[in-house]
Amino acid sequence: MAEVRPLLRDELLPPRRLERRHLISIADLTREDVERLLSLARAFGRSLEREVKKLPTLKGRTVVNLFFESSTRTSSSFELAAKRLSADVMSIKSSGSAVDKGESLKDTAITIGAYDPDVVVIRHPHIGAPHVVARWTKAHIVNAGDGTHQHPTQALLDLYTIDEELGGVSGVHVAIVGDVLHSRVARSNIQALALMGARVTVVGPPALIPRGIEALGCEVSYSIDTIRDADVVYVLRMQRERMLEGANYVPSLREYTARWGVTPGRLRPGQKVMHPGPMNRGVEIDAAVADAADALIERQVRSGLVVRMAVLYDLLTHGPVEVKVAEIEEVA
Ligand code: NCD
Repeated sequence: MAEVRPLLRDELLPPRRLERRHLISIADLTREDVERLLSLARAFGRSLEREVKKLPTLKGRTVVNLFFESSTRTSSSFELAAKRLSADVMSIKSSGSAVDKGESLKDTAITIGAYDPDVVVIRHPHIGAPHVVARWTKAHIVNAGDGTHQHPTQALLDLYTIDEELGGVSGVHVAIVGDVLHSRVARSNIQALALMGARVTVVGPPALIPRGIEALGCEVSYSIDTIRDADVVYVLRMQRERMLEGANYVPSLREYTARWGVTPGRLRPGQKVMHPGPMNRGVEIDAAVADAADALIERQVRSGLVVRMAVLYDLLTHGPVEVKVAEIEEVA
Protein backbone atom coordinates (compact mmCIF):
# COMPACT_ATOMS: atom_id res chain seq x y z
CA MET A 1 0.00 0.00 0.00
CA ALA A 2 1.11 3.59 -0.56
CA GLU A 3 2.68 5.68 2.18
CA VAL A 4 -0.21 7.65 3.69
CA ARG A 5 0.77 11.01 5.13
CA PRO A 6 -0.28 11.81 8.70
CA LEU A 7 -3.24 14.14 9.12
CA LEU A 8 -2.30 17.80 9.28
CA ARG A 9 -3.39 19.86 12.25
CA ASP A 10 -5.39 22.26 10.07
CA GLU A 11 -7.30 19.29 8.67
CA LEU A 12 -8.62 18.41 12.11
CA LEU A 13 -9.21 21.84 13.65
CA PRO A 14 -11.36 23.64 14.54
CA PRO A 15 -14.11 21.15 15.34
CA ARG A 16 -17.56 22.12 14.29
CA ARG A 17 -20.96 20.51 14.54
CA LEU A 18 -21.61 18.24 11.60
CA GLU A 19 -25.14 18.69 10.39
CA ARG A 20 -25.36 15.60 8.20
CA ARG A 21 -25.76 12.07 9.51
CA HIS A 22 -22.72 9.84 9.56
CA LEU A 23 -21.64 6.48 10.93
CA ILE A 24 -18.28 7.17 12.52
CA SER A 25 -18.39 5.48 15.91
CA ILE A 26 -20.55 2.97 17.76
CA ALA A 27 -20.56 5.54 20.58
CA ASP A 28 -22.87 7.69 18.42
CA LEU A 29 -25.55 4.99 18.21
CA THR A 30 -28.43 4.24 20.53
CA ARG A 31 -29.94 0.82 21.11
CA GLU A 32 -32.83 1.85 18.86
CA ASP A 33 -30.41 2.80 16.06
CA VAL A 34 -28.78 -0.63 16.28
CA GLU A 35 -32.12 -2.44 16.40
CA ARG A 36 -33.33 -0.52 13.36
CA LEU A 37 -30.15 -1.29 11.42
CA LEU A 38 -30.28 -4.99 12.29
CA SER A 39 -33.90 -5.32 11.28
CA LEU A 40 -33.18 -3.53 8.00
CA ALA A 41 -30.29 -5.93 7.43
CA ARG A 42 -32.65 -8.87 8.00
CA ALA A 43 -35.01 -7.44 5.41
CA PHE A 44 -32.16 -7.07 2.92
CA GLY A 45 -31.11 -10.64 3.76
CA ARG A 46 -34.51 -11.85 2.62
CA SER A 47 -34.26 -9.82 -0.58
CA LEU A 48 -30.97 -11.57 -1.40
CA GLU A 49 -32.71 -14.95 -1.40
CA ARG A 50 -34.45 -13.97 -4.62
CA GLU A 51 -33.05 -14.82 -8.01
CA VAL A 52 -32.69 -11.20 -9.04
CA LYS A 53 -30.75 -9.67 -6.17
CA LYS A 54 -30.62 -6.05 -7.24
CA LEU A 55 -33.02 -3.53 -5.66
CA PRO A 56 -33.76 -0.13 -7.20
CA THR A 57 -33.67 1.60 -3.78
CA LEU A 58 -30.63 3.87 -4.18
CA LYS A 59 -30.85 4.43 -7.92
CA GLY A 60 -29.23 7.73 -8.90
CA ARG A 61 -27.22 7.96 -5.65
CA THR A 62 -23.42 7.91 -5.64
CA VAL A 63 -21.23 6.04 -3.16
CA VAL A 64 -17.47 6.60 -3.11
CA ASN A 65 -15.22 4.08 -1.36
CA LEU A 66 -11.94 5.66 -0.30
CA PHE A 67 -9.50 3.03 0.97
CA PHE A 68 -6.13 4.19 2.28
CA GLU A 69 -5.35 0.78 3.81
CA SER A 70 -5.49 -2.78 2.52
CA SER A 71 -8.87 -4.46 2.63
CA THR A 72 -10.60 -7.43 1.05
CA ARG A 73 -13.83 -7.99 2.97
CA THR A 74 -14.76 -4.45 3.93
CA SER A 75 -14.09 -2.84 0.55
CA SER A 76 -15.70 -5.63 -1.48
CA SER A 77 -18.81 -5.75 0.69
CA PHE A 78 -19.36 -1.98 0.60
CA GLU A 79 -18.96 -2.07 -3.16
CA LEU A 80 -21.37 -4.97 -3.61
CA ALA A 81 -23.82 -3.48 -1.09
CA ALA A 82 -23.98 -0.23 -3.06
CA LYS A 83 -24.39 -2.15 -6.33
CA ARG A 84 -27.15 -4.38 -4.94
CA LEU A 85 -29.02 -1.16 -4.09
CA SER A 86 -28.45 0.23 -7.62
CA ALA A 87 -26.25 3.14 -6.50
CA ASP A 88 -23.37 4.30 -8.68
CA VAL A 89 -20.18 3.28 -6.93
CA MET A 90 -16.61 4.37 -7.34
CA SER A 91 -13.78 2.71 -5.42
CA ILE A 92 -10.50 4.54 -4.94
CA LYS A 93 -7.45 2.98 -3.33
CA SER A 94 -4.52 5.02 -2.08
CA SER A 95 -1.93 3.14 -4.15
CA GLY A 96 -2.19 4.29 -7.73
CA SER A 97 -4.06 7.46 -6.68
CA ALA A 98 -2.73 10.98 -6.06
CA VAL A 99 -2.14 9.93 -2.43
CA ASP A 100 0.97 8.25 -3.85
CA LYS A 101 2.08 11.72 -4.89
CA GLY A 102 1.72 13.12 -1.36
CA GLU A 103 -1.77 14.61 -1.59
CA SER A 104 -3.30 15.50 1.80
CA LEU A 105 -6.58 13.94 2.90
CA LYS A 106 -8.21 17.38 2.81
CA ASP A 107 -7.33 17.80 -0.87
CA THR A 108 -8.45 14.27 -1.72
CA ALA A 109 -11.76 14.97 0.05
CA ILE A 110 -12.29 18.25 -1.80
CA THR A 111 -11.55 16.51 -5.11
CA ILE A 112 -14.00 13.68 -4.43
CA GLY A 113 -16.54 16.20 -3.08
CA ALA A 114 -16.59 17.93 -6.46
CA TYR A 115 -18.61 14.96 -7.78
CA ASP A 116 -21.28 15.47 -5.09
CA PRO A 117 -21.24 11.91 -3.71
CA ASP A 118 -24.09 11.01 -1.37
CA VAL A 119 -21.94 8.70 0.77
CA VAL A 120 -18.18 8.46 1.25
CA VAL A 121 -16.93 5.26 2.87
CA ILE A 122 -13.44 5.78 4.23
CA ARG A 123 -10.72 3.55 5.64
CA HIS A 124 -7.56 5.27 6.80
CA PRO A 125 -4.61 4.42 9.07
CA HIS A 126 -5.07 7.57 11.14
CA ILE A 127 -7.66 8.23 13.84
CA GLY A 128 -10.01 11.09 12.93
CA ALA A 129 -9.76 10.72 9.14
CA PRO A 130 -13.55 10.28 8.71
CA HIS A 131 -14.09 13.62 10.47
CA VAL A 132 -11.75 15.31 8.00
CA VAL A 133 -13.76 14.01 5.05
CA ALA A 134 -16.99 14.98 6.83
CA ARG A 135 -15.64 18.50 7.12
CA TRP A 136 -14.55 18.89 3.52
CA THR A 137 -17.39 17.20 1.64
CA LYS A 138 -21.18 17.36 1.82
CA ALA A 139 -21.49 13.56 1.85
CA HIS A 140 -22.66 11.23 4.59
CA ILE A 141 -19.55 9.53 5.95
CA VAL A 142 -19.18 5.88 6.89
CA ASN A 143 -16.08 4.96 8.86
CA ALA A 144 -14.69 1.68 7.49
CA GLY A 145 -11.84 1.73 10.01
CA ASP A 146 -9.70 4.64 11.27
CA GLY A 147 -6.41 3.59 12.84
CA THR A 148 -6.92 1.82 16.15
CA HIS A 149 -10.08 3.83 16.87
CA GLN A 150 -13.32 2.46 15.38
CA HIS A 151 -14.76 0.08 12.80
CA PRO A 152 -18.49 0.42 13.42
CA THR A 153 -19.83 -1.64 10.50
CA GLN A 154 -17.67 -4.58 11.61
CA ALA A 155 -19.28 -4.44 15.06
CA LEU A 156 -22.75 -4.24 13.53
CA LEU A 157 -22.15 -7.25 11.28
CA ASP A 158 -20.83 -9.16 14.28
CA LEU A 159 -23.97 -8.31 16.28
CA TYR A 160 -26.05 -9.45 13.32
CA THR A 161 -24.14 -12.74 13.10
CA ILE A 162 -24.48 -13.45 16.84
CA ASP A 163 -28.15 -12.53 16.76
CA GLU A 164 -28.81 -14.90 13.84
CA GLU A 165 -26.78 -17.78 15.30
CA LEU A 166 -27.69 -17.54 18.97
CA GLY A 167 -31.16 -16.05 18.67
CA GLY A 168 -30.22 -12.77 20.37
CA VAL A 169 -27.33 -10.74 21.73
CA SER A 170 -28.54 -9.83 25.20
CA GLY A 171 -27.07 -12.11 27.87
CA VAL A 172 -24.58 -13.75 25.49
CA HIS A 173 -21.02 -13.97 26.89
CA VAL A 174 -18.36 -13.02 24.34
CA ALA A 175 -14.62 -13.44 24.99
CA ILE A 176 -12.51 -11.20 22.74
CA VAL A 177 -9.02 -12.67 22.67
CA GLY A 178 -5.68 -11.38 21.44
CA ASP A 179 -4.25 -8.06 20.32
CA VAL A 180 -6.86 -5.72 21.81
CA LEU A 181 -4.36 -2.87 22.03
CA HIS A 182 -4.13 -2.30 18.27
CA SER A 183 -7.66 -3.35 17.41
CA ARG A 184 -10.40 -0.96 16.30
CA VAL A 185 -12.57 -4.05 15.91
CA ALA A 186 -12.21 -4.81 19.63
CA ARG A 187 -13.12 -1.25 20.65
CA SER A 188 -16.19 -1.09 18.41
CA ASN A 189 -17.31 -4.58 19.39
CA ILE A 190 -16.99 -4.05 23.13
CA GLN A 191 -19.14 -0.92 22.88
CA ALA A 192 -21.69 -2.48 20.55
CA LEU A 193 -22.02 -5.73 22.52
CA ALA A 194 -22.30 -3.87 25.83
CA LEU A 195 -24.93 -1.54 24.33
CA MET A 196 -27.02 -4.55 23.35
CA GLY A 197 -26.72 -6.26 26.74
CA ALA A 198 -24.01 -8.86 26.08
CA ARG A 199 -21.30 -9.66 28.61
CA VAL A 200 -17.80 -9.08 27.23
CA THR A 201 -14.47 -10.30 28.57
CA VAL A 202 -11.24 -9.30 26.84
CA VAL A 203 -8.49 -11.88 27.15
CA GLY A 204 -4.81 -11.58 26.32
CA PRO A 205 -1.33 -10.79 27.60
CA PRO A 206 -1.15 -7.56 29.70
CA ALA A 207 1.04 -5.88 27.05
CA LEU A 208 -1.77 -6.23 24.48
CA ILE A 209 -4.67 -5.09 26.68
CA PRO A 210 -4.95 -1.31 26.99
CA ARG A 211 -5.21 0.01 30.53
CA GLY A 212 -8.69 1.29 31.38
CA ILE A 213 -10.43 -0.71 28.64
CA GLU A 214 -13.08 -1.72 31.22
CA ALA A 215 -14.56 1.76 30.79
CA LEU A 216 -15.89 0.68 27.39
CA GLY A 217 -18.03 -1.97 29.07
CA CYS A 218 -15.98 -5.15 29.50
CA GLU A 219 -14.12 -7.30 31.99
CA VAL A 220 -10.44 -8.18 31.59
CA SER A 221 -8.72 -11.54 32.00
CA TYR A 222 -5.06 -12.40 31.60
CA SER A 223 -5.72 -16.13 31.48
CA ILE A 224 -6.47 -17.98 28.23
CA ASP A 225 -8.50 -20.54 30.20
CA THR A 226 -11.22 -17.88 30.59
CA ILE A 227 -12.30 -18.32 26.98
CA ARG A 228 -13.94 -21.63 27.97
CA ASP A 229 -16.57 -19.71 29.94
CA ALA A 230 -17.79 -17.79 26.89
CA ASP A 231 -20.57 -18.61 24.42
CA VAL A 232 -18.62 -16.92 21.62
CA VAL A 233 -14.83 -16.72 21.29
CA TYR A 234 -13.92 -13.73 19.14
CA VAL A 235 -10.33 -14.06 17.94
CA LEU A 236 -8.35 -10.96 16.94
CA ARG A 237 -5.54 -10.85 14.43
CA MET A 238 -2.02 -10.08 15.66
CA GLN A 239 -1.80 -6.61 14.09
CA ARG A 240 1.88 -6.61 13.25
CA GLU A 241 1.63 -3.57 10.98
CA ARG A 242 0.35 -1.41 13.86
CA MET A 243 2.95 -2.49 16.40
CA LEU A 244 5.60 0.11 17.11
CA GLU A 245 8.92 -0.87 15.69
CA GLY A 246 11.30 -2.16 18.33
CA ALA A 247 8.56 -2.59 20.96
CA ASN A 248 8.28 -6.10 22.34
CA TYR A 249 4.61 -6.74 22.96
CA VAL A 250 5.17 -10.49 23.02
CA PRO A 251 8.48 -12.39 23.22
CA SER A 252 7.86 -13.97 19.79
CA LEU A 253 4.95 -15.03 17.60
CA ARG A 254 5.74 -18.65 18.38
CA GLU A 255 5.52 -17.91 22.10
CA TYR A 256 2.28 -15.99 21.54
CA THR A 257 0.76 -18.95 19.72
CA ALA A 258 1.85 -21.36 22.43
CA ARG A 259 0.31 -19.26 25.21
CA TRP A 260 -2.62 -17.47 23.55
CA GLY A 261 -3.44 -19.26 20.32
CA VAL A 262 -7.03 -20.52 20.06
CA THR A 263 -6.70 -24.26 19.58
CA PRO A 264 -9.31 -27.06 19.71
CA GLY A 265 -7.96 -28.08 23.13
CA ARG A 266 -8.70 -24.65 24.61
CA LEU A 267 -12.33 -24.66 23.51
CA ARG A 268 -15.43 -26.38 24.83
CA PRO A 269 -17.58 -28.34 22.36
CA GLY A 270 -20.28 -26.09 20.89
CA GLN A 271 -18.53 -22.78 21.46
CA LYS A 272 -18.91 -20.43 18.50
CA VAL A 273 -15.75 -18.90 17.07
CA MET A 274 -15.53 -15.59 15.23
CA HIS A 275 -12.69 -13.67 13.57
CA PRO A 276 -12.96 -10.41 11.59
CA GLY A 277 -10.36 -11.57 9.08
CA PRO A 278 -7.79 -11.56 7.69
CA MET A 279 -6.71 -14.59 9.74
CA ASN A 280 -3.17 -15.61 10.51
CA ARG A 281 -3.80 -19.34 10.58
CA GLY A 282 -1.44 -21.04 12.97
CA VAL A 283 -0.74 -17.80 14.85
CA GLU A 284 -3.82 -16.52 16.74
CA ILE A 285 -6.13 -19.26 15.47
CA ASP A 286 -5.49 -22.93 14.78
CA ALA A 287 -6.54 -24.03 11.29
CA ALA A 288 -8.74 -26.77 12.80
CA VAL A 289 -10.67 -24.11 14.75
CA ALA A 290 -11.01 -21.83 11.74
CA ASP A 291 -12.43 -24.65 9.60
CA ALA A 292 -14.68 -26.24 12.25
CA ALA A 293 -18.46 -26.26 11.96
CA ASP A 294 -18.77 -23.93 14.95
CA ALA A 295 -16.72 -21.21 13.25
CA LEU A 296 -18.90 -18.32 12.07
CA ILE A 297 -16.17 -16.66 10.04
CA GLU A 298 -17.74 -17.09 6.61
CA ARG A 299 -21.10 -16.18 8.12
CA GLN A 300 -19.59 -12.89 9.25
CA VAL A 301 -18.63 -12.07 5.66
CA ARG A 302 -22.18 -12.81 4.49
CA SER A 303 -23.56 -10.61 7.26
CA GLY A 304 -21.21 -7.84 6.14
CA LEU A 305 -23.04 -7.47 2.85
CA VAL A 306 -26.56 -7.09 4.26
CA VAL A 307 -25.45 -4.93 7.19
CA ARG A 308 -23.64 -2.55 4.84
CA MET A 309 -26.70 -2.41 2.60
CA ALA A 310 -28.69 -1.45 5.71
CA VAL A 311 -26.18 1.23 6.73
CA LEU A 312 -26.13 2.86 3.27
CA TYR A 313 -29.90 2.76 3.04
CA ASP A 314 -30.42 4.06 6.57
CA LEU A 315 -28.03 7.00 6.21
CA LEU A 316 -29.75 8.13 3.04
CA THR A 317 -33.32 7.66 4.22
CA HIS A 318 -33.86 7.20 7.97
CA GLY A 319 -33.38 8.07 11.64
CA PRO A 320 -30.82 10.14 13.49
CA VAL A 321 -27.17 9.23 13.86
CA GLU A 322 -25.64 12.36 15.30
CA VAL A 323 -21.93 12.82 15.58
CA LYS A 324 -20.99 14.13 18.99
CA VAL A 325 -18.76 17.18 18.95
CA ALA A 326 -16.95 15.74 21.99
CA GLU A 327 -15.64 12.90 19.92
CA ILE A 328 -14.22 15.20 17.26
CA GLU A 329 -12.49 17.21 19.96
CA GLU A 330 -11.08 14.04 21.42
CA VAL A 331 -9.31 13.08 18.19
CA ALA A 332 -8.20 16.59 17.21
C1 NCD B 1 -10.18 -5.72 10.49
C2 NCD B 1 -9.68 -4.32 10.24
O1 NCD B 1 -9.20 -3.98 9.18
O2 NCD B 1 -9.79 -3.55 11.18
N1 NCD B 1 -10.47 -6.44 9.34
C3 NCD B 1 -11.63 -6.25 8.65
O3 NCD B 1 -12.13 -5.16 8.51
N2 NCD B 1 -12.21 -7.35 8.16
C4 NCD B 1 -9.37 -6.46 11.44
C5 NCD B 1 -7.92 -6.67 11.15
O4 NCD B 1 -7.34 -6.09 10.27
O5 NCD B 1 -7.34 -7.46 11.89
